[in-house]
Amino acid sequence: MKHRDLIAALPKAELHLHIEGSMEPEMMFELAARNGIDIPYANVEEVRSAYNFTQLQDFLDIYYEGMAVLREEQDFYDLTMAYLKRSHADNVRHVEMFFDPQGHTTRGIAFETAVSGISRALNDGKKTLGMSSYLILSFLRHLSEEDAFETLAEAEPYLDQFIGVGLDSSEIGHPPSKFARVFARAREMGLKLCAHSGEEGPPDYVREALDILHIDRMDHGNRSMEDESLVQEIVDSGMVLTVCPLSNLKLGVIKDMTDSPVRRMLDAGIAVTLNSDDPAYFGGYMNANFEATADALNLTGADIITLVQNSFQGSFLPPAEIATYLEAVGKAAGSVSSETG
Ligand code: HPA
Ligand code: ZN
Repeated sequence: MKHRDLIAALPKAELHLHIEGSMEPEMMFELAARNGIDIPYANVEEVRSAYNFTQLQDFLDIYYEGMAVLREEQDFYDLTMAYLKRSHADNVRHVEMFFDPQGHTTRGIAFETAVSGISRALNDGKKTLGMSSYLILSFLRHLSEEDAFETLAEAEPYLDQFIGVGLDSSEIGHPPSKFARVFARAREMGLKLCAHSGEEGPPDYVREALDILHIDRMDHGNRSMEDESLVQEIVDSGMVLTVCPLSNLKLGVIKDMTDSPVRRMLDAGIAVTLNSDDPAYFGGYMNANFEATADALNLTGADIITLVQNSFQGSFLPPAEIATYLEAVGKAAGSVSSETG
């Protein structure tokens, strides 16, 4: 834990966070009671002990089930505000947050209910916590292209509330090319493009995300490391990767934290960032992800600062705001190194 103080002191941006994956078991019970919903667990401990996953799908089954307690606009507000407060305590100053509208509309919750609750909390978070934020609408890739187009049409009246679109859920069997036309349309609408790729899926899927979807940012990207020419393309294009170390461990993408590709990515010159993904399910928010990675991979203080700089440089913020945040990173880094000599 030798870098704990540095990690805590640095202002950070979180670029890979699913708001529905930030629902702590305590809140699940609170919302279940408030909305009169039965959940298949007797207490918080039972919920936590169900979070034993060997692959992505094990998690997704429980994750979609957990969403059932989210019904009213206030529920989405409370969920989002709780995440903002928790990550603010980790010195997260900017967040680019995914939400899964189809996880809600498919169970009869209006698109508007979810988006207004989340947006209202993000606006309040700007005022009360000074946190900047963007929202990213993520398509569930196990659903059809037609479903994704319908969701994009539903989103159109709320376009000013999103910065971009993403692609998540079950990766294998649902390659990026399935959504080529949806992503082209989203681009025409002026949206940024992100896609989960190479979490479980092969390097070919990563190539499709780059060459067919023309993504602006890659989520996970772990399996890119299996293909040297792909690594070179990623480096040359300056593509930013949002890696989620504790998520990787919990979902069996890596067997041990020492297998995390973060060290190799840094060495290759990839613009890698660290993120929490679904912190309530994977056992840690931003600082826990930094600490576990730094410990396992023997990261230096300079590595940690690079990862944090990448998080702002890889954000969709305007250049002037990125510059202001980078200045704050430099100041915080300077004050920690002068304290520790
Ligand atoms: N992978 C794919 N889909 C997801 C994830 C993830 O880590 N989290 C929430 N939806
Ligand atoms: Zn994710």
